[in-house]
Amino acid sequence: MNLDELKSVARAIVAQHKGVLAADESSPTIKKRFDTIQVESTEENRRRYREILFTADGIERQIGGVILFDETLRQRTRDDIPFPQLLSGRGIIPGIKVDQGAKALALHPGEKVTEGLDGLRDRLAGYKQLGAQFAKWRAVIEIDERDIPSPFGIRANAHALARYAALCQEAGLVPIVEPEVLMDGAHGIERCEAVTAQALQAVFAELDAHGVLFEGMLLKPNMVIAGKKCPRQAGVREVAEATLRCLRRTVPAAVPGIVFLSGGQSAEDATDHLNAMNAMGPQPWEVSFSYGRALQAPVLAAWQGQEDKVAAAQTALMNRCHLNGLARAGKYSRSMESTA
Ligand code: 13P
Repeated sequence: MNLDELKSVARAIVAQHKGVLAADESSPTIKKRFDTIQVESTEENRRRYREILFTADGIERQIGGVILFDETLRQRTRDDIPFPQLLSGRGIIPGIKVDQGAKALALHPGEKVTEGLDGLRDRLAGYKQLGAQFAKWRAVIEIDERDIPSPFGIRANAHALARYAALCQEAGLVPIVEPEVLMDGAHGIERCEAVTAQALQAVFAELDAHGVLFEGMLLKPNMVIAGKKCPRQAGVREVAEATLRCLRRTVPAAVPGIVFLSGGQSAEDATDHLNAMNAMGPQPWEVSFSYGRALQAPVLAAWQGQEDKVAAAQTALMNRCHLNGLARAGKYSRSMESTA
């Protein structure tokens, strides 16, 4: 393990203006996204769609890394260039989703734990050979009225995240550690803040116990936000303040960057929240993005699976990248959306 390399890759992903494009939807998830635009989820359609994303003009200005799915890491452009090579050639660091999904946690009804540790050491070696320089593992924590998550559910997920992160660093890959507290449900923002804090405390305790180098990892948390079904939705400033308060209490300053997931927020809200946090002044870590839906929803809507709409789809991606790049510096304003 080369510690300096891990540190420099982690820092490069969240360099000034930059964040991550999460394009690592598993086959069932990308099918769900394609269903919304009536595009069949064939291997070629998935390849073509990802090619449209990765060849959009100028996105390397705001995209420091792209997370790929196993299938995508092995696919190529029309001109026969492997996707990892295409991205690296543009100065974008290729990464790989390595978890195998959240499954029911035995004897804990309503809770999940993420699988994928068995054989992970060998898979990581293979991914590194294929050009990946970082990895992602997502833990899913649901909030329910009935004492969910339980302290054990949180601990089980934190332990798996830490085992994954240690294996990544051993293999020379930067781990993105993603404990996602879901925004489904009717809970208020206060409950989200409390659960997010518990989850992050547990995650950093386990990472430390496993010997993970904080300087060579990135954290991908949810923002602190009210559940989708909560009648009182917090405003942008309240979300930004609660999120920063929660993270400052739980995330060591040695971590180079926090790259938020969008989690079902609209593209505009995700950008606005990121902007508000950056406008609140310097933080101990880079405050950035690793958005899936918040970068891609407008692209899918513009593309519709049609070749004559590829340019419009790429423009939609470039626009979101540009606006999130501004939000990285606290220089975005909602009024910029209408002129896009
Ligand atoms: P969203 O931004 O759509 O939540 O996706 C990010 C991600 O990678 C979830 O694992």
